[in-house]
Amino acid sequence: MLSAEIRDLAARRHAVILAHNYCRGEVQDVADFTGDSLELARKAVEVKADVIVFCGVYFMAETAKILNPSRMVLIPDPSAGCPMADMVTAEQLRELKARHPGAKAVCYVNSTAEVKAECDICVTSGNAEKVMATFPSEQEILFVPDQHLGGHIAGMLGREYTLWPGYCPTHAALTARAIDEARRLHPGAPVLVHPECARDVREAADERLSTGGMCRYARESSAKEIVVGTETGILHRLRKENPGKSFYPASERLVCPNMKKNTLENLRDSLREMKTEVVVPDAIAEHARRAISAMLAVG
Ligand code: 13P
Ligand code: SF4
Repeated sequence: MLSAEIRDLAARRHAVILAHNYCRGEVQDVADFTGDSLELARKAVEVKADVIVFCGVYFMAETAKILNPSRMVLIPDPSAGCPMADMVTAEQLRELKARHPGAKAVCYVNSTAEVKAECDICVTSGNAEKVMATFPSEQEILFVPDQHLGGHIAGMLGREYTLWPGYCPTHAALTARAIDEARRLHPGAPVLVHPECARDVREAADERLSTGGMCRYARESSAKEIVVGTETGILHRLRKENPGKSFYPASERLVCPNMKKNTLENLRDSLREMKTEVVVPDAIAEHARRAISAMLAVG
């Protein structure tokens, strides 16, 4: 069986398999650890094994490499990118910074290493409010690339940020009308959405949470039925961890094609052939590490 072969190869290669909550169920099941971006970044720092195989999208594997540069980091399919991360380039951010001297540049962790290297600090959806609250209210902030996460946090803290107009094409498929329909089908069920959703969708929901936050909510809530407004891969974990509860996707259209590029076959091949290695040039890694470490220091 493929899963047994993968576990055997991982042991022989002294490899740890990390998977994002959006990965296919069978990939989550064979991984050593499944989590959200923040949990995976924290895990990557701790890895003592020689090799990290990262089942997620490229910026996540890059973050693991930046945080733990002496380990070999592999990604099963290097074409698994994040379209939102590619919506701002380092050059564009440098131009924006030049137009706003004195402003602090903040990036969502869904960004390239080059963009992180230009920033003062990173955030994930799991810690953005806490990190952004460390800035004094008068501090001018440039927030890239996700206009929705940036807008959500600015709203929570009663601040105004200069928002880059990036967005997640997967979460853009969720509409307020779909939330209304889910409420009609599942009356009384709390509706959770990811902060990458558009403002009207966030407002139509009960909770705006990172994927890790959704897993915690599902564990701790007394609700027996929950509507989930994020990439549908997370339903596997929610159902597995909470057998007595029912989880419904807010929309079946919430599928990230890049996350789905991680399969048991290419994970096996990755370990067998030790490919594809993630490399971040030292000069970029050093600057990007400062922004990521500043974030991890906040918590
Ligand atoms: P989380 O950090 O909440 O897992 O989100 C990552 C992501 O890519 C959401 O689209
Ligand atoms: Fe990027 Fe959206 Fe996919 Fe997350 S769900 S990896 S933000 S494209």
